[in-house]
Amino acid sequence: MSSTKKSVSSKLNQRLLGAARKAMKCAYAPYSQFKVGAALLTSKGKVFTGCNVENASYGLSNCAERTAIFAAIAQSGPELNIRAIAVVNDQGVPCSPCGACRQVIYEFGPEARVFFQSSKGWKESHIADLLPEGFRLK
Ligand code: THU
Repeated sequence: MSSTKKSVSSKLNQRLLGAARKAMKCAYAPYSQFKVGAALLTSKGKVFTGCNVENASYGLSNCAERTAIFAAIAQSGPELNIRAIAVVNDQGVPCSPCGACRQVIYEFGPEARVFFQSSKGWKESHIADLLPEGFRLK
């Protein structure tokens, strides 16, 4: 099994959830009052985090998942391979990545594991199950 296909251990999963909760505290969400945090694990074992950043022009708001991915590239370069990404929110409600974030996760992690709160509790999904036939140019 290649490293990108391996499931993430529960210890790493807990680490990601803790990092996502910490990042969530930095969210800028004055319009929705819905704070979200995300933490991703790269295939090199590094963790990067992000939060949602909203805007008065609502459509310009950026989700926590994309903030984490853009931060990872900005800090570590374009050779990003996402092994797993965890998403948390401050209201303890179901919150799976939006369609735009699924496509961006897929770009850098076609085998990524995604941890999020579903209507049936915490769930781990493969990105390809969340985004069947994701778009690729390369
Ligand atoms: N949001 C995220 O950051 N990630 C998600 O997975 C779902 C939604 C943000 C976008 C917006 O700032 C707020 O949550 C309400 O939609």
